[in-house]
Amino acid sequence: MRNIGQAFIGVALAASVLGAQAEVGQPGRLLASNCFQCHGTNGKGPGFDSLAGKSANEIYKELKEFQSGKEGNGIMAKHTMVYTDAQMRQISTWFSTQK
Ligand code: HEC
Repeated sequence: MRNIGQAFIGVALAASVLGAQAEVGQPGRLLASNCFQCHGTNGKGPGFDSLAGKSANEIYKELKEFQSGKEGNGIMAKHTMVYTDAQMRQISTWFSTQK
């Protein structure tokens, strides 16, 4: 499980580097593009739970819980390790503005 999670994250990070060149400009979108591989482009699925249009506070709270390592199956705990609070706020706010 651990290795599978790491492989997923590796792929997701590689995808985000490619996405980065095209997606500068909208605050939060660049960081949020790290999530698209598993939660769908712009957080609209298909994939794991859809994030588009959820409340920013709720997403942020969930990210903090994942980061603490007490929530989830480990994939999100690993993924959230790399973000600062400010970045998680930006990501959450961006997803909340998606329909
Ligand atoms: C490698 C795949 C992967 C990536 C990348 C990923 N997630 Fe997830 N995410 C999951 C899985 C799997 C779950 C559900 C399992 C769990 O709870 O651990 C989940 C659950 C969540 C949940 C909880 C949803 C709910 O309704 O309970 C939120 C919020 C979330 N992810 C946000 C994000 C954000 C924001 C990013 C980008 C910073 C991201 N995820 C990147 C796989 C991923």
